[in-house]
Amino acid sequence: MKIGIIGAGHIGGNAARLFVKAGHQVAISNSRGPQTLADLVEELGDNAEAVNIEDAIDFGDVIFVSIPLGRIEELPTEGFDGKIVVDSNNYYPERDGQIAALDDGKTTSSELLARHLRGARLVKGFNTIWFEHLRTQGDTGLPLEKRRAIFIAGDDSEAKAVVANLIEDIGFAAVDTGFLHEGGLSQQPGTPIYNQELTAAEAAKVLTAGA
Ligand SMILES: NC(=O)c1ccc[n+]([C@@H]2O[C@H](COP(=O)([O-])OP(=O)(O)OC[C@H]3O[C@@H](n4cnc5c(N)ncnc54)[C@H](OP(=O)(O)O)[C@@H]3O)[C@@H](O)[C@H]2O)c1
Repeated sequence: MKIGIIGAGHIGGNAARLFVKAGHQVAISNSRGPQTLADLVEELGDNAEAVNIEDAIDFGDVIFVSIPLGRIEELPTEGFDGKIVVDSNNYYPERDGQIAALDDGKTTSSELLARHLRGARLVKGFNTIWFEHLRTQGDTGLPLEKRRAIFIAGDDSEAKAVVANLIEDIGFAAVDTGFLHEGGLSQQPGTPIYNQELTAAEAAKVLTAGA
């Protein structure tokens, strides 16, 4: 699959490594331009290229967005129509500044991003896993129930299935927390599943206990 990545830091960079290892093609971008990603794409090899943000959007069947939430307004609004977008972004006011719509609980960070990226089929995912665990804990040799869980949420079940397959390709198990709003709330910093080292089987129990 062709994956466009926006954000090449702890999560975006490691996701790129894992997707390439699993046989996918990635085009990766950041805010400073492709010339700053030369070392990373050299490490990644033939199935990776450094591009600008618009080209990452054009390239991907799936677009993986992993930037500080406070900067999502800088992203283009066009080019996303019908595209599956994975949203790993979390809200940290000390980093992102206060965002009133989130502080009063009216909406969630993923809904904000979905509104900005016109027409995107947005799936929240990869939000609750620390980047070092993302880098090291995938294991395609394990049965799904014994793999580390990566949580997803979204309103488009077909898009969620595509993202779940990508998560399985890199050695994790996708665990669905539901619709974008409700599932999104359950994946935010400070929730019972946030940064917890849960297998898929354990994750199902934690989610049931919290329901
Ligand atoms: N770190 C974790 O363990 C973890 C776990 C789960 C979720 N998250 C969430 O995932 C997101 C990324 O976290 P991270 O730790 O990977 O951050 P990071 O290491 O600071 O990397 C951020 C990346 O975003 C890029 N970026 C910033 N503004 C951009 C813009 N307007 N357009 C395009 N690219 C832009 C940066 O590019 P430049 O360097 O060129 O500016 C950089 O490549 C955050 O929302 C974070 O809360 C993090």
